[in-house]
Amino acid sequence: MKGGLQTEKVRKRYSRIAGLYDLIEAPMERAFAGRRQELLAGVAGRVLEVGVGTGKNLTYYPAETEVTAIDFSPKMLERAGRKIEREGLSNVELREMDAQQLDFCDNSFDTIVSTCVFCSVPLPVQGLRELRRVLKPEGRMLMIEHVRSKKLLAGPLMDLINPLPLYLYGANINRHTLENLRTAGFTRIEEENLWGDIVKRIVARP
Ligand SMILES: C[S@@+](CC[C@H](N)C(=O)[O-])C[C@H]1O[C@@H](n2cnc3c(N)ncnc32)[C@H](O)[C@@H]1O
Repeated sequence: MKGGLQTEKVRKRYSRIAGLYDLIEAPMERAFAGRRQELLAGVAGRVLEVGVGTGKNLTYYPAETEVTAIDFSPKMLERAGRKIEREGLSNVELREMDAQQLDFCDNSFDTIVSTCVFCSVPLPVQGLRELRRVLKPEGRMLMIEHVRSKKLLAGPLMDLINPLPLYLYGANINRHTLENLRTAGFTRIEEENLWGDIVKRIVARP
């Protein structure tokens, strides 16, 4: 597993909170569920969802898409599996896999989706490089991610309190995801602020 001990730690933390995840996230979900739906409305073809968690996005994919959804936490995947059964979704396949080391060929997917994932991938640039590798050259990466604020007070404050969410459930609140996308080789990047300059909708192309 890439990222060694740190990856193992984050994986265990997500497994530890899997049963409570939807409850903890409920207030955020009320604000952002509509954004998930908007993000996925026009998705087509073969889709990879990274860090599927409990499967909050799964009902929003158009029925004709073929979705492979991965997560490195088996407990989160169990939750997503139950959702698939409950909702009778026949277009989604779940796989346990680390985003930093994907078991897919180059240029396999038309669309890649990540929502609130790159706060916790231990080696984010490595993960994004892998996604770029498996994304078709004309494909799109669709993201809703929270990032470190560029504001004078908010940014340093986020750095200061980052160890707490990192310890509790493996998420960093001060990631530089747009810069990481560029470092990983995505060149055409559009961003839209959804909440201050912290929560962003991002569309990135190789
Ligand atoms: C904050 S949750 C978000 C879940 C879901 N995408 C959502 O929007 O509710 C982050 C998820 O990413 C997964 N994750 C983090 N790093 C990962 C990695 N390197 N490979 C695969 N999954 C990862 C975690 O296990 C967790 O389920």
